[in-house]
Amino acid sequence: RVLPFGVLYCWYFIDLSLALSKVLDPDDAEHLFGSLLPDMVQLALRASELCTKPIPLLKRGMNHSITMSQEQVACLLANAFFCTFPRRNSRRNEYGNYPDINFFRLFEGSSPKKIEKLKTLMCYFKSVTEQKPSGLVTFTRKSLDKPLNWKSSQTRLTKLHITCEGTIEDDGYGMLQVDFANKFVGGGVTSSGLVQEEIRFLINPELIVSRLFTEALDHNECVIITGTQQYSTYTGYAQTYQWDGSHQDTTPRDGWQRRCTEIVAIDALQFKNFLEQFKPEKLNRELNKAYCGFARSEQRSQHLAAVATGNWGCGVFGGDARLKALLQMLAAAEAGRDVAYFTFGDSQLMTDVHEMHSFLTESEIGVGEVYDLLRQYNSSVCRSCLSRRPDVSLYSFIYQQVSSSLAPDDSDGGSARHHVPADCR
Ligand code: APR
Repeated sequence: RVLPFGVLYCWYFIDLSLALSKVLDPDDAEHLFGSLLPDMVQLALRASELCTKPIPLLKRGMNHSITMSQEQVACLLANAFFCTFPRRNSRRNEYGNYPDINFFRLFEGSSPKKIEKLKTLMCYFKSVTEQKPSGLVTFTRKSLDKPLNWKSSQTRLTKLHITCEGTIEDDGYGMLQVDFANKFVGGGVTSSGLVQEEIRFLINPELIVSRLFTEALDHNECVIITGTQQYSTYTGYAQTYQWDGSHQDTTPRDGWQRRCTEIVAIDALQFKNFLEQFKPEKLNRELNKAYCGFARSEQRSQHLAAVATGNWGCGVFGGDARLKALLQMLAAAEAGRDVAYFTFGDSQLMTDVHEMHSFLTESEIGVGEVYDLLRQYNSSVCRSCLSRRPDVSLYSFIYQQVSSSLAPDDSDGGSARHHVPADCR
């Protein structure tokens, strides 16, 4: 049987061989074209043997899980590499609301970013063709059927560990690790994207197969992927991203033989102007999205691991990190999880968020009251110019509001007064 290449696909591989031959030294090129690509073809050709049943689609509104072996995943990804999935190269058919799965956009052009992405993926294929992976991976689509009444919550904030060093994937071991997603899970991983989500999907490539069967996420939905393995390490970020060699993932496996790595894809809203994100309907959407990703109704909350997160929605999507940090703390508290927050090098953000969390906790301000303060802030800022930042920052507003509400009881000269950072007085 010949893979359904046809002339249509031949030119993809002219691009590929041109692209790869520019970066590989002769020995690597010999290995690639002499053994790795043929091994990948053999792996792809085993689809009818390895995937004996049609793969169900995780459609919008479905609460459903798919578990498959890492070997099945590898076979499907080899097919994606050779672009064999029919009817997936256009948005004008029944798969129009699904992410791209065929890798052909990776072969277009030979930008340094594309080359580093291909190196990362070839590292994965080399690993799985040399040694069959033995575990399973579960993909769960989950929706929040009823939005929470955030204003009435009496829940107290949970613990916060915040640092400007480290990353979610390197330091979030054993925690629920957040993927700062696109509603088309994986975002631009098979084209030119190369920020937090795409990097995670490249170093844990088994995540990419979710694009084959996961329809675009709705506002109240998330995808949880348990069991993926890390095959590569990297340096840099976005334009400076570079593959930095293979990675031996020693994460233990659970009873289902899945690596104990749980990743949740939640897509933030994209904001074009600053004040938009403070509107009640936007606050509610982000809170419910994060809560949907963090909550596990089937598990009692005292056993839930912390959320390992960071500036969700605050890079490409233009959100405000101090607001998003608060929103994630509220959602995590409601879900019964502590928070490990990685500010990705921003030490001022680390200080500001840490002080705010301490202030709210010491003032015994709970989820509902913080939510109400956010609503008050939205009402207080002038609507005249949506894009300009307000004169009073969100955190200054919160310090002022809470301190003034505590002031009348503060007759004993300030012993009850809570620490308000100097720049917020
Ligand atoms: N660990 C912790 N924090 C990180 C990491 C990491 N590994 N990588 C990046 N960050 C921080 C950076 O500060 C970054 O600016 O997270 C911020 C947000 O990252 P983005 O990827 O820009 O996330 P977002 O703003 O939500 O944009 C999502 O980008 O990757 C695509 O497919 C994704 O379309 C979606 C969009």
